[in-house]
Amino acid sequence: MADAPSAPTASSGVASAEWLAGGSGGADRLAQLLPAALRGMAAGTAERGGPVPAGGPAAVAATLARTQSADGLPRHGVGAEQALEELSALLAAGSADPADPACAAHLHCPPLAVSVAADVVAAALNPSMDSWDQAPVASEIEREFTTGIARLCYPDAARPDAVITSGGTESNLLGLLLARESAVTRPVCGANSHHSVARAAWLLGLPAPVVVPCVDDRMVPSALAEALAPLGAQAVVVATAGTTNTGRIDPLPEIAEICRRTGARLHVDAAYGGLALCSETLRSRVAGLELADSVALDLHKFGWQPVAAGVFAARGETDLQALTVRAEYLNADDDTEAGLPDLLGRSLRTSRRPDAFRMAVTLRALGVSGIGALVERCCANASGVHVLVEDHPALRSWGAPELSTVVFRPVAADELPGTAGDDLVAQVRRTLLEGGTAVIGRGALPTGPDGEAQLWLKLTLLHPHTTPADYRALLDAVAAVAADLRTSVTRESPVAS
Ligand SMILES: Cc1ncc(COP(=O)(O)O)c(C=O)c1O
Repeated sequence: MADAPSAPTASSGVASAEWLAGGSGGADRLAQLLPAALRGMAAGTAERGGPVPAGGPAAVAATLARTQSADGLPRHGVGAEQALEELSALLAAGSADPADPACAAHLHCPPLAVSVAADVVAAALNPSMDSWDQAPVASEIEREFTTGIARLCYPDAARPDAVITSGGTESNLLGLLLARESAVTRPVCGANSHHSVARAAWLLGLPAPVVVPCVDDRMVPSALAEALAPLGAQAVVVATAGTTNTGRIDPLPEIAEICRRTGARLHVDAAYGGLALCSETLRSRVAGLELADSVALDLHKFGWQPVAAGVFAARGETDLQALTVRAEYLNADDDTEAGLPDLLGRSLRTSRRPDAFRMAVTLRALGVSGIGALVERCCANASGVHVLVEDHPALRSWGAPELSTVVFRPVAADELPGTAGDDLVAQVRRTLLEGGTAVIGRGALPTGPDGEAQLWLKLTLLHPHTTPADYRALLDAVAAVAADLRTSVTRESPVAS
């Protein structure tokens, strides 16, 4: 048996095959190097000791300045193991780690180890998804996976299809792009919609969306009907299944019916809530999704994938033909006629990572029901944390969660006049962040006396292995910081008392 190759060092030279991850011996080389990376990761995680490095941006920048050379890119290498161990430690020590329960601000999930391991293999073999000759089986795995997701969204459609995207932003762009290609000229979305919808309209040269009012962070169907009256089939409605601020789900069946009556197209941004489809008990919450012309789903939210893991599904596969493009070097007509699958029209991008591979491995490992069970845990956890908020004398709940987002406000903020309450909410969040104690989110909601925006705190719970008890101390910390800040505001400005 041949000796295992030695780990690349500075002296082994960059021209050596020892530096390549793939090919013969690639797996052995990775097996030698990964321990160094993982040692660094473990050491850095232990050094951080919490959800996020303490001290805020200045402390993180100072750490980097201490450990990295000040003259930009290094002139000479230190060798693979040392570089991996040192920088992995630096990254882990300085990361906001979503695997820590107190890192709960955003739709930023702790990735599953099975997916990360699959990604190592995908990165080593490096299929590029823009032509079959760069991704022979990866393209088939992606096809099978996207077909499965398309069926999950559209169980009764004759020919649904789906493509991989970099996330909800790109999927929403595709939703509007395909609408524009079918002669739609005006986007219409809820006041609760993600900013990427208006941005997509801007990018595509469409007018700014007509914004439909919301109540309880859900689009109001009667207001939608009114907005569509003068537009009809010229409009594409973007509804949301899982809003960024609160996790609310728009009334999809009613919205779909209004779109059907008026001839408007419907795109549903289900980047957050879409994977509730995997749960028998939760799927009814996103009922109506199957009535949309297109759907955005993100498996880097519920789905527990590393970024990026977006999927865009269309009820009719012909809609996706709008993405067709020819490039002599990638999908020449004669190659396609000879039977080489044409991949270029499956994305707006050209070179593209095989993100579907780790998603397919994850689904193979857990099954749809396994993902559904994780979604259920997060939603149940959020309901439990909401009860803790309601029972907390120093906190006020915005409302019961529909998915896994818990929105609340310190009572101390309500005791302050004008914008001082919002300032306090913002400072609570920054104090906990800078102290390295917790990463919690914020969102503005129209709850002021005259419907003006007020600032709220939110926990977006995507950690499937936590229980409400894991959040008790965090809620107490929010209340304690709010009380301290309230006292200092009163001391500085007695009028505020
Ligand atoms: C409802 C919704 N849509 C779209 C997006 C954008 O997704 P991405 O960051 O994957 O582009 C987000 C991000 O949180 C979101 O909450």
